Amino acid sequence: MQKIGVIPGDGIGPEVISEARKVLNAVTERNHLTLEFEEFPLGATHYLSTGEILSEETIQRLSKKDAVLLGALGDPRVKPGVLEKGILLRLRFHFDQYVNLRPVRLLEGVPCLLAGENRKVDMYFVRENTEDFYVGLGGRVKKGLSKTELELKRRAYEAKFDIGIELEGEEELAFQIGVITRHGARRVMEFAFQLAKSKSISLVTSVDKANVLTDMYGIWREAAEEISAKYGIAKEYQYVDAIALLMIRNPERFQLLVTPNLFGDILTDLGAALQGGLGFAPSGNINPSGVSMFEPVHGSAPDIAGKGLANPIGAILSAALMLDTLGHAQVALDIEKAVAAVLREGKHRTADIGGKSSTSTMGDAVVAKLRKA
Ligand code: NAI
Ligand code: MG
Repeated sequence: MQKIGVIPGDGIGPEVISEARKVLNAVTERNHLTLEFEEFPLGATHYLSTGEILSEETIQRLSKKDAVLLGALGDPRVKPGVLEKGILLRLRFHFDQYVNLRPVRLLEGVPCLLAGENRKVDMYFVRENTEDFYVGLGGRVKKGLSKTELELKRRAYEAKFDIGIELEGEEELAFQIGVITRHGARRVMEFAFQLAKSKSISLVTSVDKANVLTDMYGIWREAAEEISAKYGIAKEYQYVDAIALLMIRNPERFQLLVTPNLFGDILTDLGAALQGGLGFAPSGNINPSGVSMFEPVHGSAPDIAGKGLANPIGAILSAALMLDTLGHAQVALDIEKAVAAVLREGKHRTADIGGKSSTSTMGDAVVAKLRKA
């Protein structure tokens, strides 16, 4: 038995999570899989009625789960960032979910932005999720002499920065520090090559900008070199700008890309566009030896919440990704195939791709397909 914590969250979060739950129930019945669900009512409503964002006790309860399935957070009644940072980022940080895994797959029947028929878009993004320019170290200084002390605290290490700046000839300067540790780069490479091995992937593309940001992405490349040597899987290095071009011109060439945090943030949104839009994109925040959290890439979409317009496919595929990561690869594949079959037939499509089907019609169609398979 595996224990799943469910955080439906805000806006369309609960709507899409309910469809993902339907699909999970359908596969567990068929495969004698036992999943035990516990719902956590976190989000705007909980916050506005209790003043609590995320308690230590909730974190403790979540830490006993095998995985967490999350809808989306964010609500117009709450200042931007309060719930997103207070819940999502806090959980990612607490559970040290150092991999952001984003499969980018264009399913048949889903309109693609690329010119040409039958484009094959099928790649994994393995994005480092804890370092790079997202460590939150920076500052602004005014003309003259100034001193800034910054501190980076991680479970595995601590770094203190003592920065003295003497600014002349300009009134204000802002800076941001990017950090990549050998440990941080190694562990994400290890995950990427391990995934490549388990998915019979023959080429791993490491993304960087080592020609300009030589220190940070120098260490990144060294880690890629070191870890890839253990696996005997072909690898290549590509600069992030070249990747942006190639993803549009020739996405067929990519199988798995491993990328630092910032570039990964940008490229995976490009990936979401290639797979038909935010409504189709699943993701996992993963700690291979801890609690991982799976969520559709989209946010709470307040503009369409409560109208039955949300596309639940991203959430359903996130549930599949969760099962895959928990060791149920075949069941995950069954879900993906059922989703693909529904989209291929084209009878059911949500409004984001020009259809008329409601959120629950879409979920029901996937369940019906699974029952027939
Ligand atoms: P969003 O992803 O919620 O929506 C962007 C656009 O895409 C909207 O027009 C929306 O209607 C559409 N869309 C999104 N998901 C869809 C789906 N499943 N089916 C059909 N259409 C869909 O991003 P936005 O509007 O920037 O943010 C709204 C709120 O969500 C904010 O509070 C933001 O902070 C939060 N957010 C939360 C995330 C999370 O929980 N992981 C991620 C991104 C944003
Ligand atoms: Mg983003």
